[in-house]
Amino acid sequence: MMKVSVLGAAGGIGQPLSLLLKNQLPAGSHLALYDVAPVVPGVAVDLSHIPTPVKVTGHAADDLEAAVADADIIVIPAGVPRKPGMTRDDLFNVNAGIVQKLVETGAKAAPNACYAIITNPVNSTVPIAAETLKKAGVYDPRRVFGVTMLDVIRSNTFVGELKGINPDDVDVTVIGGHSGNTILPLLSQQQVAFTDAELDMLVPKIQNAGTEVVEAKAGGGSATLSMADAGARFTLALARGLAGDMNVECCFVAVENGPADYFAQPVRLGPNGVEEILSYGTLSDREQGLMEAMLDELKGNISKGVAFVDG
Ligand code: LMR
Repeated sequence: MMKVSVLGAAGGIGQPLSLLLKNQLPAGSHLALYDVAPVVPGVAVDLSHIPTPVKVTGHAADDLEAAVADADIIVIPAGVPRKPGMTRDDLFNVNAGIVQKLVETGAKAAPNACYAIITNPVNSTVPIAAETLKKAGVYDPRRVFGVTMLDVIRSNTFVGELKGINPDDVDVTVIGGHSGNTILPLLSQQQVAFTDAELDMLVPKIQNAGTEVVEAKAGGGSATLSMADAGARFTLALARGLAGDMNVECCFVAVENGPADYFAQPVRLGPNGVEEILSYGTLSDREQGLMEAMLDELKGNISKGVAFVDG
């Protein structure tokens, strides 16, 4: 039986994410919903009335340990979203401590759990989770993931729209990190070719898609529904892998001898979490330039996360 805990389950991402998981997790799974917001037991009761063979439990602010106990996957969308004018890094001061605290409890109550981290800034919160697990003596780099699936689904959508193809038939590899310039879609690897003018439009559109939502919501938060969809797709892929059905998704993981200590790239997901880190293939000259231009920022985001825990 698979236990999936959603931390921040009553929030803008957490609620639709939990709905998608309630409807799509394998039969016999347990979905445990935790939030500091007092509405969370009600969200759990509400979801529990949907007739799928997935058990739902709700856990209020003081019940984190039970929420994560023996979880296979801990999904973390908890934290505050951006407002117009903010970068993801501007969320660091509030969200870093939230992620650290949640992972500290996870380390104790679910030492073998996989973490799927959505909370921004992902480039820093993933190293924070890893360092927190290291401190607790239960770190396994195969089990800590930053969710970058939203960059993949956005890329697929925008390529589909531009080229008049079903986005389901598009699968863009997106590497790097999850903020601005660190998001690098490898459009040169697509079956369809792009003109320079198309790339000049498409690459920034993908990199700024999160900001486009933040601005359109005008102070009301950031992407919640598309993020929930991406978070559910990734969680379900991870769950399939843990159950032995290996599959490949792009995500932000610890890599050895990579361009940075953590990097988003295609990963084979399996019974141990990361089964294999796969090559992201050859970059065009243009993509190589974008990669070089973003590495300092990505490495800075990572060091900031590491320093937050290690001092
Ligand atoms: C996104 O890409 O939509 C999320 O990371 C939220 C944000 O702040 O952009």
